[in-house]
Amino acid sequence: MPTSTSQVATGRPERYIKQLISHLGQKATADLGGDGRGVITFQHGRCVLTPAGDHLVMIATAADVGALADVQDVVARHLLRFAAQEELTVDWTEPVAGDSLQIVDPVVTDYLVTHCTPADDLLQELVLKTREATGGAAGMQIAQDEGALLGMLVRLAGARRAVEVGVFTGYSSICVARALPEDGYLLACDVSEEWTSIARHYWERAGVADRIDLRIGAALETLRALPNEPSFDFAFIDADKVNYPAYYEEIVPRLTSGGLVVLDNTFRGGRTFDPAFQDDSDVAMRRVNEIVFQDARVESVMLPVRDGVTLARKH
Ligand SMILES: C[S@@+](CC[C@H](N)C(=O)[O-])C[C@H]1O[C@@H](n2cnc3c(N)ncnc32)[C@H](O)[C@@H]1O
Repeated sequence: MPTSTSQVATGRPERYIKQLISHLGQKATADLGGDGRGVITFQHGRCVLTPAGDHLVMIATAADVGALADVQDVVARHLLRFAAQEELTVDWTEPVAGDSLQIVDPVVTDYLVTHCTPADDLLQELVLKTREATGGAAGMQIAQDEGALLGMLVRLAGARRAVEVGVFTGYSSICVARALPEDGYLLACDVSEEWTSIARHYWERAGVADRIDLRIGAALETLRALPNEPSFDFAFIDADKVNYPAYYEEIVPRLTSGGLVVLDNTFRGGRTFDPAFQDDSDVAMRRVNEIVFQDARVESVMLPVRDGVTLARKH
């Protein structure tokens, strides 16, 4: 579904949103939230209006580019009419679909990667080894900044016992295991003997093999076989996307109070935000994002780190 945004400079974004909601609400469904955010839903598209300081941010979405142009036109025309006392400029960006959204500008990524704790020689070697041994699958490996984030979260949570769903060649498990205390424990779940044989080799060399318990098999079965009691302080979910809701539901009861569950790829390259994408993984990811958001057992935050990283901390 194409989406387009416009950032309109104005000192009165809240006022215009109210006027647009009130006026267009006569022909479409229009809701104003307590935070001043407005949503107008037309038959073939919608526009989200957000006050952002001295800007009004408008996000238009529609079923196709023709319908998107209609949404842009009706909202912009009314806005300009209400703004008789000031000269507003409404410039819409080119339409983009979910899978071509640029979530983080590459310039920003480059800067932040060069300004966070670097991967050590072993992790850098693992990156090269993974490319050589797994080819295109190497894209599944988490990146340096996400690895640094995981290690920091494990330390901040003071975690002693962790679980990982989706080991691959071991990058994230090394980051997690290194951040655990010496007598810490990481339960590592994966289906692949081949990929985890590389992980095992690097765990040895990283000096963390003794704290990692690798279980080969469907992770859902491994999790369900665990005692249903809070015994983990940290969890990282990074495996098959269709099972994310089930992984989350198995993990939360097994988290201690203050324990953290981290979910990777919650944006799915932007497909999560775009209802045009409806494969099983897209649907499952939207579902788990809703489950986490609605879950009274946790507080949560979604970070635009790489492909979307969600943190949920159990009360
Ligand atoms: C995205 S990769 C994990 C990347 C890893 N966290 C890293 O840092 O390199 C996903 C992994 O999930 C595993 N996987 C897929 N389906 C699974 C399942 N049902 N149960 C357990 N592991 C699964 C795959 O074998 C693959 O190694």
